[in-house]
Amino acid sequence: MGGEYPRKSNRAKEKKQRRLEERAAMDAVCAKVDAANKLEDPLDAFPVFKKYDRNGLNLQIECKRVSALSSSTVEWAYELTRANMQSLYEQSEWGWKEREKKEEMKDERAWYLVAQDADTTPVAFSHFRFDVECGEEVLYCYEVQLETRVRRKGLGKFLIQILQLIANSTQMRKVMLTVFKHNHGAYQFFREALQFEIDETSPSMSGCCGDDCSYEILSRRTKFGEAAGHGHSGGHCGGCCH
Ligand SMILES: CC(C)(COP(=O)(O)OP(=O)(O)OC[C@H]1O[C@@H](n2cnc3c(N)ncnc32)[C@H](O)[C@@H]1OP(=O)(O)O)[C@@H](O)C(=O)NCCC(=O)NCCS
Repeated sequence: MGGEYPRKSNRAKEKKQRRLEERAAMDAVCAKVDAANKLEDPLDAFPVFKKYDRNGLNLQIECKRVSALSSSTVEWAYELTRANMQSLYEQSEWGWKEREKKEEMKDERAWYLVAQDADTTPVAFSHFRFDVECGEEVLYCYEVQLETRVRRKGLGKFLIQILQLIANSTQMRKVMLTVFKHNHGAYQFFREALQFEIDETSPSMSGCCGDDCSYEILSRRTKFGEAAGHGHSGGHCGGCCH
């Protein structure tokens, strides 16, 4: 006769069932990321956001895969990142690694928003990717970089709003990024002006080496992500810099 506990074979069946469900859920997550990566232009759905005509700026904004950018645009993006970020990287545990940064920026999964002025000179960009983090579909913002002359005119905020829109329309659950704690302007920009939260995978949340790490991982859930709830069921998948 059956006891108080399920028979072993039942438990095994339930375990197998759970595994199948988890695999199906992960397949669905990967399918969303694949579908987003197959889009021709994720910004096509939002033509209003292809122009930025405010605060003395009159810019065109394009969204392209890295393979569709000219090599001079990719070189400009690298040089701008180096000018803005090299000393900040050198103050961190990462250091500045030219070859790795160039490879990252040219990786075939890289997407770019590029803002250019009337004579097609690029003035700002964001490198982002559709990816899976801890079992969730996310839009990861690898870079947002503006030339000094176009800062504090709302353009950075506008580019991040575009990422948020693209993330929502492609059913990504959140926009994520990494910021150095000592990059005070950017930290304030994301945390205070744009209301990003410290992500649960950030070193300071995992408790391993929070105070020693010079960066935080920040995120903001999309409308889709809020409605769908959290994708993974706990467990540790935080990053650690050591
Ligand atoms: C960080 C960056 C993307 C912000 O873009 P931006 O267009 O200059 O910022 P916005 O004009 O959209 O700012 C919106 C709000 O964010 C806050 N903010 C932006 N830059 C700030 C700064 N340097 N210090 C403090 N707050 C700042 C302000 O509240 C600002 O509103 P306000 O100008 O009305 O006060 C831009 O300064 C930049 O490219 N910096 C160099 C590269 C960099 O550090 N990138 C981030 C890497 S994680």
